[in-house]
Amino acid sequence: MVERETWATRAGFILAAIGSAVGLGNIWRFPFQTATNGGSAFLLVYLVAVLVIGIPALLGEFVVGRRANINAIEAFNKLGRPQWAFVGAIGVLGSFWTLSYYSVVGGWVLRFIYGFASGVVLDQPQTYFTDVAATGLDAVALHGLFMLVTAGIVALGIEDGIELATKFMVPSIVVLLLGLAVYAFTLPGSGAGYEFYLSPDFATVVENWTTVVPAAAGQALFSLSVGFAVMITYASYLSKDDSLPADGLTIAVSNSFVGFLAGLVVIPLLFAAGITIGGEGSLVSGSGGAGAVFIGVTTALVDLPGLAARVVGALFFGTVLIAAISSSISLLEAVVSYLVDNYALPRAPTAAGLGGVVFLLGVPSALDTAWLTWFDGISVSLFLPVVVLLVVLFVGWELGGEAVDELRQGTSGGTLLPMVWLWSLRTVVLLAILVVVGLNFYDLFL
Ligand code: PHE
Ligand code: NA
Repeated sequence: MVERETWATRAGFILAAIGSAVGLGNIWRFPFQTATNGGSAFLLVYLVAVLVIGIPALLGEFVVGRRANINAIEAFNKLGRPQWAFVGAIGVLGSFWTLSYYSVVGGWVLRFIYGFASGVVLDQPQTYFTDVAATGLDAVALHGLFMLVTAGIVALGIEDGIELATKFMVPSIVVLLLGLAVYAFTLPGSGAGYEFYLSPDFATVVENWTTVVPAAAGQALFSLSVGFAVMITYASYLSKDDSLPADGLTIAVSNSFVGFLAGLVVIPLLFAAGITIGGEGSLVSGSGGAGAVFIGVTTALVDLPGLAARVVGALFFGTVLIAAISSSISLLEAVVSYLVDNYALPRAPTAAGLGGVVFLLGVPSALDTAWLTWFDGISVSLFLPVVVLLVVLFVGWELGGEAVDELRQGTSGGTLLPMVWLWSLRTVVLLAILVVVGLNFYDLFL
């Protein structure tokens, strides 16, 4: 039997996990969720959700993965609880499902990079998304290209594929976003954007809490890549001398920071162009339709002088592409690791074959955005909360003291914090996720 791979360095694991977390969720979803759900008041609810559910659940997935050192389904067998293996199976299925439409959005991003680099998007800023990029054979082909790149990196393995790629990708994302945020700051009229972004609108949150709270929690968890077996899988390639709490905190803080930074790029850019956000009939009203960031940012850039629009646009969507790929590889890895571990299949053909199947599953989303929105809804409102709920139950009530032992491995601290974590999982986190699941089911089915 071939020896199972591990991360070469601790920084490699942290960067790969940040790469997974930072993605379309931060740049495509977050700014608009924030803008339409009460501005920085949503930001506060989101941050509370990160702290109360996100970080404890992330640590829960880490504990399962590192303790078992095997893929997310087999992990439960290896921990002596085969009756829980279905939790890993739902997670792996969720990854598979999510990747199918995530990759379609990745294809749109490729299209916009081309559109800006060539300048063609500037001739039809409002209609390029719907008429050219979103659907049709080109969308299918670019979705295929995105899957090909994703599968190519995963085929190279943990150390030579995912770790190496994310080592370059994550710093690039931060540098590019910082540069773009500074640029947005220099544009006349952007000031109103900061005011809007940073002045909390608590009334919206209080009035609409039954939708805002699950939206914020869903955003927090999706953004952290929790609830899809991905973090279980990534932690399964870890050794025992890593401090899980320290790594989890680093990953969560970095992810929220990048989300916030993306808002500092997108929102001032829109305001500088006089585009209003939120409210009925505005360009990006509602939950921020699938095309919002594409149409919004393009419209915002059109009036920039000379080459600026093309350069800034290509850089912005280039950044989005890097963020998307560093996440899509984690979604594919969650599935690949299961087949490689359990059936001793060779990694490269497995990644390629699975990439092909995921591609097929994504074709409906590439032909009609209504399918994409439906897939996204099932992913974030169904797969994700159900898996998080089950993982919290499993780690809190089933593993219990074993989980505390695992969390402490590699740290110099005592048992106090791990015990606080365990009891919070058993009570507050469990309750909070139950509320989120309840509200989501209510929204979905009632
Ligand atoms: N966290 C990623 C993002 O914000 C999406 C993702 C979810 C990736 C689940 C892996 C697992 O875009
Ligand atoms: Na994210």
